[in-house]
Amino acid sequence: MRRLRRSESMRALVRETRLHAGALIYPLFICPGEGVRRPISSMPGVFNLSVDEALQEARDVAQLGLGGLLLFGLPEKKDEQASGAWDENGIVQQALRAMKRDRALDSLVLIADVCLCEYTSHGHCGIVRPGEAGTHEIENDSSVALIAKTAASLARAGADIVAPSDMMDGRVAAIRDSLDDEQLHDTPILSYASKFASAFYGPFREAADSAPQFGDRRSYQMDGANRREAMREIELDLAEGADMVLMKPALPYLDIIREARDCFDVPLGAYQVSGEYAMLQAAFERGWLDRDRAMLESLLSIRRAGADFIVTYFAKQAARLL
Ligand code: PBG
Repeated sequence: MRRLRRSESMRALVRETRLHAGALIYPLFICPGEGVRRPISSMPGVFNLSVDEALQEARDVAQLGLGGLLLFGLPEKKDEQASGAWDENGIVQQALRAMKRDRALDSLVLIADVCLCEYTSHGHCGIVRPGEAGTHEIENDSSVALIAKTAASLARAGADIVAPSDMMDGRVAAIRDSLDDEQLHDTPILSYASKFASAFYGPFREAADSAPQFGDRRSYQMDGANRREAMREIELDLAEGADMVLMKPALPYLDIIREARDCFDVPLGAYQVSGEYAMLQAAFERGWLDRDRAMLESLLSIRRAGADFIVTYFAKQAARLL
């Protein structure tokens, strides 16, 4: 076996999996204001950015040859109906319009995350109703209606792809209907089809200010123990009209990515989430792991598991090395 490992050129010739900048998507957190660039303590190198700063960042990302951006928003005000999510003048809608006007960004695919958790006062991904004995229910169908409305609003504002991350049942079909009703037939849906209830989303909730104020997300996000159920989620989303699926988290769930790759022929993305980024950054800061090598190895493993593209906070750093 060692004959084919003797030099870098020999290894390059027989390499089975490749990383390239065009397959990396960079998440951005857009906030109100001007000239705002607020660091997120648990995610060194990641910021909340006002629209003007986000445009600057997007130009860097385009220069580096990345595939695109995934946009999240921090609204001015939060309420029970998540009005900031579907407001025509919402924060992500404003960012999308500005980005679409900038020709330097034409090479980027603009993906809008579709969810209510950054916009609800309680931080849940849907509408909350009181349940029995002081408990709370996250209502499915009323949430889906607002999620579909949000998706159409983001597509009208210029999103090239809408990506629902809420995990309510039936949202993909509802989003497809609402897009088609508004003549947005050409907007694809990237569904976060297999999204597990994970501790690794912790730092994101600081970045997006979206931690649930009570309870947790286990009644809508998947149980980390379930592989077969993940395949059913994907199957249902595809039947409802999803064009592509996103798997998350990535590193602790590589087996799920591989299984999805073997079972389905649609384009598959994986999200290397905030906690995966945070744990590697923490080790880099202490000098415990080699930054460049550990970062690229983690991304390569996700590609090898079967992901076509990767959403990652390392996208810019990785592209500089590729
Ligand atoms: C919104 C959403 C979350 C993430 C992506 N979309 C947070 C959550 O479900 O709590 C997590 C991404 C990350 O951790 O980087 N529902």
